[in-house]
Amino acid sequence: MSLLGKDLIGIEGLTREQITTILDVADPLKAISERAIKKVPTLRGMTVVNLFFEASTRTRISFEFAEKRMSADTVNVATAVSSVSKGETLVDTARNLEAMKIDMVVIRHPASGAPRFLADRIESNVINAGDGTHEHPTQGLLDLLTLRSHLGSLEGKRICICGDVLHSRVARSNIWGLKALGAQVAVCGPRSLLPGAITDLGVEVFGRIEEAIQWADALNVLRLQLERMERGYIPSLREYNRVFGLTRARLERAPKDLVILHPGPMNRGVEIDSDVADGPHSVILEQVTNGVAVRMAVLYLLAGNAPALADAAKAESA
Ligand code: CP
Repeated sequence: MSLLGKDLIGIEGLTREQITTILDVADPLKAISERAIKKVPTLRGMTVVNLFFEASTRTRISFEFAEKRMSADTVNVATAVSSVSKGETLVDTARNLEAMKIDMVVIRHPASGAPRFLADRIESNVINAGDGTHEHPTQGLLDLLTLRSHLGSLEGKRICICGDVLHSRVARSNIWGLKALGAQVAVCGPRSLLPGAITDLGVEVFGRIEEAIQWADALNVLRLQLERMERGYIPSLREYNRVFGLTRARLERAPKDLVILHPGPMNRGVEIDSDVADGPHSVILEQVTNGVAVRMAVLYLLAGNAPALADAAKAESA
């Protein structure tokens, strides 16, 4: 059994040591993607299926790169053109894939809990690539890796998650991960976009973006998830930008240089203005780069490899 157990369903429940190990394994693996030949043989012979029931650019492609750079065989299942579109259940789909002798399933699903449901019913390792409004653990981990590389130890650091926390699996994974590493965590947004029991998670709540900017070392700005909104949570996008948007003018009033994250995809001019997203404090593309290394580390550890072997794996050539 790996250090992480059989599956990675969420950051909730992971210990500080487990999270730190994933980040420590991911850090040196970044170098593999900088090489001319971006490949090591570490997962040769393993078969990984990427099963995405929801749209994705960063996560799906990043997992595919991570799998290929570690020499795993990968298959992408496009659910729109698979037998899922004929009504086949999630478990039947996965069991049929397992009958073809696979080792791991990476799953994104609109229903919170779908990866856990699957993991309890198949033998392959299951990695949650985002389920409904529940968790997106590898996004949380890549955010932690990015923050750690800019702020050092996250113990006592102040991180504010801004915007549509209500619909955000990224927010939940970040809150669990940041708190496990000792950070102070806050959320900021209109009350209609914050979960009712958010303070139960041990976070501070700001009702004004200006307060968050004064308080924080880093801001993780969330996308307004318009596709998940069943009713009017905000008067208009323009109004949201006017009151909660991260603009250059607001950022210039910060008492220190803030690190600005966004998980993507961005609504430019809504939750974040382009001159902030593309500005000197933004680490948004670095998050994407780190995503490949974090996913390599998760695949590596779930495959049962010891953390100490990661450096050796990095040195191996394919
Ligand atoms: N951050 C993130 O999950 O992006 P995608 O939806 O493009 O995968």
